[in-house]
Amino acid sequence: MAVTIKTVQEVEKMRTAGRYLGEVLEELVASVKPGMTTKDLDILGEKLIRKHGCIPSFLHYNGYPASICISVNEEVVHGIPSRKRILQEGDLVSFDAGLIWQGYHSDACRSTLVGDGPEELKLLIRRTEDSFFDGIAKAVAGNHLYDISNAIADSIEPYGYGIVEDLVGHGIGRHLHEEPEVPNFRQRSRGIRLRKNMTLAVEPMIAMGTHKVITLDDDWTVVTADGKPAAHYENTILITDGEPEILSLPGGRRE
Ligand code: MF3
Ligand code: CO
Repeated sequence: MAVTIKTVQEVEKMRTAGRYLGEVLEELVASVKPGMTTKDLDILGEKLIRKHGCIPSFLHYNGYPASICISVNEEVVHGIPSRKRILQEGDLVSFDAGLIWQGYHSDACRSTLVGDGPEELKLLIRRTEDSFFDGIAKAVAGNHLYDISNAIADSIEPYGYGIVEDLVGHGIGRHLHEEPEVPNFRQRSRGIRLRKNMTLAVEPMIAMGTHKVITLDDDWTVVTADGKPAAHYENTILITDGEPEILSLPGGRRE
């Protein structure tokens, strides 16, 4: 399937999907407290998604058994919510969620600390977020796809963090995963040309130590190979002739 350019009507649906998803994630971040289980948060997230009349897109996707991916500390992505996983003060938790509104997807992720925690984790989270914004500063029609990737790499490399390479961002729209792939690490070419009304999920996954990851025996949970923590930040964005529009924020479009 080729890269799709969305119509004005499609963009409007993706704006609505994104706004709802931004609200869901904001509420999850505000709700997380020590003593909660990751299952509690999955139940809350699914309830919030359905409250908006949306469908949780991760549920049953390739057999995934929950609505939200909740990854803690050394878990990078695709952590499966569990009644046995009790969150503790200082844990770094990532909420990755997707939903469908009138046939159109939005996908986004937030990382946060449970309660208060070490400065080095706060920095890892902030720098991961910053790398997303540095990356999308290049996401303008006429620029090229890997300008985003190289800007994320430029943003992260000075800190010596590991940039996960095994998982990447992606096009999004009628499907959760569309072409093109959006790597977060350095590329030797500039890639395809970005065009107005392309929609992308840009999602740097940044580890405190090695960039190498492994998948646990549950066939889902991706953890860092050295057991050090990782952060993840993602939004669904719209390419325009000027600054990209971040679709997956509460309150919708930011001017
Ligand atoms: N959020 C992931 C992504 O960005 C998808 C989660 S896979 C699922 O591609 F199976 F958990 F849904
Ligand atoms: Co994604």
